[in-house]
Amino acid sequence: MSNTLQSVIAQTLPFEDQKPGTSGLRKKVRVFMQKNYTENFIQCIFDALGDKLKGSTLVVGGDGRYFSKPAINTIIRIASANEVSKLIIGQLGILSTPAVSALIREHKVLGGIVLTASHNPGGIRNDFGIKYNIENGGPAPDNITNSIYELSTKITQYKTTPTLETDRLIDILGTSKFNVDGRQFTVEIIDSTTNYVNLMKQIFDFNKLRALIRGTDQRPAFNVLLDSMNGVTGVYVRNIFVEELGASPDNNVRRVVPLDNFGEIHPDPNLTYAKDLVDKLKEDSNYDFGAAFDGDGDRNMILGKNAFFVTPSDSLAVLANNLECIPYFKKNGVNGFARSMPTAAAVDRVAAKLGKEIFEVPTGWKYFGNLMDAGRLSLCGEESFGTGSDHIREKDGIWAVLAWLSVIEHKQMGVEEILKEHWTLYGRNYFTRYDYEECETEGANKMINRLEGFIADGGLVGKAYTALGKTYKVAKADNFSYVDPIDNSVAKNQGIRILFEDGSRLIYRLSGTGSSGATIRVYIECYEKEDVLTDAQVMLKPLVEIGLEISQLKEFTGRNQPTVIT
Ligand code: G6P
Ligand code: ZN
Repeated sequence: MSNTLQSVIAQTLPFEDQKPGTSGLRKKVRVFMQKNYTENFIQCIFDALGDKLKGSTLVVGGDGRYFSKPAINTIIRIASANEVSKLIIGQLGILSTPAVSALIREHKVLGGIVLTASHNPGGIRNDFGIKYNIENGGPAPDNITNSIYELSTKITQYKTTPTLETDRLIDILGTSKFNVDGRQFTVEIIDSTTNYVNLMKQIFDFNKLRALIRGTDQRPAFNVLLDSMNGVTGVYVRNIFVEELGASPDNNVRRVVPLDNFGEIHPDPNLTYAKDLVDKLKEDSNYDFGAAFDGDGDRNMILGKNAFFVTPSDSLAVLANNLECIPYFKKNGVNGFARSMPTAAAVDRVAAKLGKEIFEVPTGWKYFGNLMDAGRLSLCGEESFGTGSDHIREKDGIWAVLAWLSVIEHKQMGVEEILKEHWTLYGRNYFTRYDYEECETEGANKMINRLEGFIADGGLVGKAYTALGKTYKVAKADNFSYVDPIDNSVAKNQGIRILFEDGSRLIYRLSGTGSSGATIRVYIECYEKEDVLTDAQVMLKPLVEIGLEISQLKEFTGRNQPTVIT
């Protein structure tokens, strides 16, 4: 143990913009670089935890984006001065978001700090983020993030140990002990993948998956292409798919070295930002399967041969329908299912058939945690490319791919065949999402306010709208609110819903994860029992037009086209 170090109290002034969004505080790197900005936010997280912090252990890590290292060093010094007893940190600061969640649960610690802005671009000109996760491994609930924010508006000082030497501390595996104000403070640097890989081995049948990926005497190899988009999953993909499951490092994986600017791409696995992967699969029909992950590894996109696209809503429903082939669920049984409100309702049909509970929660993974902790929920997902289960309390991209490959191995069918079989059985919930990124905040707010006005005066209900020969009549319109069935907490104003008589839906939300301007999302869904093979954009075109008409989105934003269509 080194010499005794003394903590100090540093004076500071509050910043006005430290309100965590859907998933933590996300800002441009240069915002976090301001003097005391990061320090203030970390101190506010610690203050929000109160007495529980003293003597506690926390997990720290992230997707390795630019500014991660200085942020972690700040966390180390502030934690040491705030009487945290130990930090468990991924080597070089690298831990995927699912891996942080798994570690918090494995070590039964107080919580974790995740350094990521998820799928937002990284690098000095782009985004950084800090998110706090609680002891169940999930994102902090609203009451904690609200109290962090309140504290941030009043903070006057933070505690730190400036003499604690952090240089290269997180680069090398091992444990360092410090004496701070007479207390022991421990920093343990762990391998980024070991715990997570072991967890995946307990959940899935790696022998079967290896046989699928490598092929057997009876069957050719199932040819996958996994795209880490230069994000954190690269290290997990190499470990799990290449080393454990025998995938080829040259042909089956791409962009698997995490870069602190994600190679200047937008590390978001959707049809626009992962177009590169889509094109590869279209060009080369030797590939049976493709998947991409976001920067911090919690999102996934699933593609079949020739880039056949599986919507996240359908992905959830297919997995729900086939969970029995995964050892974890065989052992633990399957409790209910859940989806976020804007997610298409395909999984609801599976739940009804299997006699399982189904929950509809607001957007944001944090809303699933209570249900999982209460043993009511096993599998859930969001249209925003999130799929996961109660093995942790975050969505999990690698898990989703292993789950899909398990289903494929079990059914001995390709992705498209599986989807078509599913739609034949259940009918199809057609779904698309239009994103209008970085709009002027004023216009976006006006548009939403006007819609809220319609809801308040009940004016939409009963109205019929016609576009391209199709007519839809409004049955109900509201601003979604949710009462958590476990702790009765209420989340209001979670998205404008226009529900039509035939079950079709139009939903409008402002994104909670953007870092500048306002991003408007319009979610469009309809259900067809028989006509299940039409192109989704064709099928949904009339509703899209109606959605634009009702909202006057073009007029309010000046945008003729969305930035991203999913
Ligand atoms: C993050 C959360 C998800 C959520 C998504 C919504 O990825 O982890 O749970 O669905 O943000 O983002 P939005 O930009 O629509 O608020
Ligand atoms: Zn993410």
